[in-house]
Amino acid sequence: MDRPVAMVTGSNRNTGLGLIRAFGRAGYDLVAACRTPENAAKTENLLKAEFPEARVKGVWFDQGKPDEIFRVFGEIAEQFDRLDVLVCNATVTGRQTFLEITPGEMTEIMNKNVGGYLFCAQAAAKMMIPRRKGSIIMMSSVQSMGAVPRMMAYAASKAAINSLSRSIAIEVAKYGIRCNAILAGAIRVDKWASFTDEEIARKRKNWPLERESTPEEIAQAVLYLADDRSATVTGTELTVDSGVSMCLLPYDKHWEEG
Ligand SMILES: NC(=O)c1ccc[n+]([C@@H]2O[C@H](COP(=O)([O-])OP(=O)(O)OC[C@H]3O[C@@H](n4cnc5c(N)ncnc54)[C@H](OP(=O)(O)O)[C@@H]3O)[C@@H](O)[C@H]2O)c1
Repeated sequence: MDRPVAMVTGSNRNTGLGLIRAFGRAGYDLVAACRTPENAAKTENLLKAEFPEARVKGVWFDQGKPDEIFRVFGEIAEQFDRLDVLVCNATVTGRQTFLEITPGEMTEIMNKNVGGYLFCAQAAAKMMIPRRKGSIIMMSSVQSMGAVPRMMAYAASKAAINSLSRSIAIEVAKYGIRCNAILAGAIRVDKWASFTDEEIARKRKNWPLERESTPEEIAQAVLYLADDRSATVTGTELTVDSGVSMCLLPYDKHWEEG
């Protein structure tokens, strides 16, 4: 019963699945939050088989619906005596342009991405306060600092998440709770399987380290922010992006020849 408990949202696939598995390997009990009951059950079964020593609970909610979030945190509190780590990872991305985005699309993305992170963090902090300890980690993106065409609402939501993370950090510091954001660059997720070698090579040319992160590499940054190795780190942003955000001009590998 002394095992720490970690919750990851959007844990049924891609980065979220990589993160919750990393917590399993690191000896945590696991709360796998998904969007649908089917994925919650499937992910719970998968994690129970992989980590038979861990307590594992699959939960589900639409993170655009705060009432569902609060219902689920009530269930978690009934089953778990503690919550040590929350990773807000679930996201909607979509494709939106400035000239065409509708009020409905903007509202939906801000509700799900920003409101969802906020109310998950709020409910988690209330579980952490009695133990005077906890870590909240928000998956953000380098897009919060720059612009990529057709992703304006997503980028704005990630910039809001950076700000949210700092506001949370300053308010909960007195309870021993920390909150930080990870600004990820490209992560190798399922859709990469559909890219051609040429497409992948073209992408990688933009990044000084010439490769994307794997979910497991993102997990190393998350695990660091989760435990006492980062005991005095709060209200900050950890960039894990193969160097893409330091480039003011298109990256030129052969810069010394110019
Ligand atoms: N992939 C990248 O290159 C990249 C780069 C920078 C930052 N990031 C950030 O890293 C995180 C993970 O990215 P990813 O690419 O692994 O994500 P992803 O593959 O798009 O998965 C998104 C997850 O969020 C869940 N989700 C979507 N809408 C939801 C809702 N309304 N309620 C609850 N859950 C919902 C999805 O559930 P379903 O499976 O049911 O749809 C899925 O589990 C995100 O925060 C993203 O912004 C990713």
